Amino acid sequence: MACAPALVDRHGREISYLRISVTDRCDLRCRYCMSEKMTFLPRDALLRLEEIALIAERFIARGVRKIRLTGGEPLMRRDALDLARRLGRWIGQGLDELTLTTNGTRLADHAGALFDAGVRRVNVSLDSRDPGTFRHITRTGDVARVLAGIAAARAAGLAVKINMVALKGLNGHEIADMLAWCVAESFDLTLIETMPLGLIDEDRIDRFLPLTGVLADLQERFPLVRDGHNSGGPARYWRVEGTETRLGLISPLTSNFCSTCNRVRLTTEGKLFMCLGQEDQVDLKAAIRSGGIAALDQAIDSALDHKPAAHDFRIERGAAPAVARHMSVTGG
Ligand code: 5AD
Ligand code: SF4
Repeated sequence: MACAPALVDRHGREISYLRISVTDRCDLRCRYCMSEKMTFLPRDALLRLEEIALIAERFIARGVRKIRLTGGEPLMRRDALDLARRLGRWIGQGLDELTLTTNGTRLADHAGALFDAGVRRVNVSLDSRDPGTFRHITRTGDVARVLAGIAAARAAGLAVKINMVALKGLNGHEIADMLAWCVAESFDLTLIETMPLGLIDEDRIDRFLPLTGVLADLQERFPLVRDGHNSGGPARYWRVEGTETRLGLISPLTSNFCSTCNRVRLTTEGKLFMCLGQEDQVDLKAAIRSGGIAALDQAIDSALDHKPAAHDFRIERGAAPAVARHMSVTGG
């Protein structure tokens, strides 16, 4: 690949991590994520597989070492595995890691193929292991399918991290149990505060559970030691002492992490967002369609110049979301 300038933004942060939302569609309707009657993008608005691959490969040439496929539910897109296979070829050739965030509903069918493509770790969203609570939170989901998907992932050799959005009055009482289960299964667990992205049918403040209190509670029940692991991302980590389980906390509302941010996000429509919580974006689809790789490079440079210093999330009663688009558009 041609040599190209590295990706450093005007705050001196090196961008080494690209997240790609391959579809905004999802077979679930998690209450904190989507409204019940969600409208999705028309299919012809989406980047074609070839375009996603070209953009991703350009990012690899310019220093991105980690790519995560996400959504929506990435496995809803028919050619998601073809994309994984194509990008998987770069592992060891510039790319260190290719990972996937999934809701797990289709994981049982695809875990083996993901491993064969070079994926070694998956993040699975699981907000409850109780069938009734899971159904309530996701509005439609069957937790047994997700648990089967998780088991298949492990059997295929994939390391599993569970993502759990902490929701007051819905799953707060299950968090300690979830951690105990993750310890028993040797999974990692990341707890996430609900973020004000896109309109949903409720006021998020009613479900907002600050992780500061959750952590204090877990510290009483588990031997948690601070872990220096740094993914350049929003999570702070603890290790459950004597186990393989790492606990991560993503608490954008109660603690800010933006100064070490190393990531950018490509949406399904080909827009590059420099921050999950800001509107700044550049249209890489337009660039690549009109001017090929040279125009793409220019657009990426201009994006870097505009990467905001920080998000400005806040959760207040009646407040509009920080940004209008849902997590499923930008990619989690
Ligand atoms: N706030 C916090 N987390 C969210 N997710 C989706 N929408 C939101 C939101 N508004 C979570 C998903 C998934 C992860 C990538 O992001 O549950 O686990
Ligand atoms: Fe789908 Fe994930 Fe959103 Fe739930 S949180 S509706 S699984 S994209």
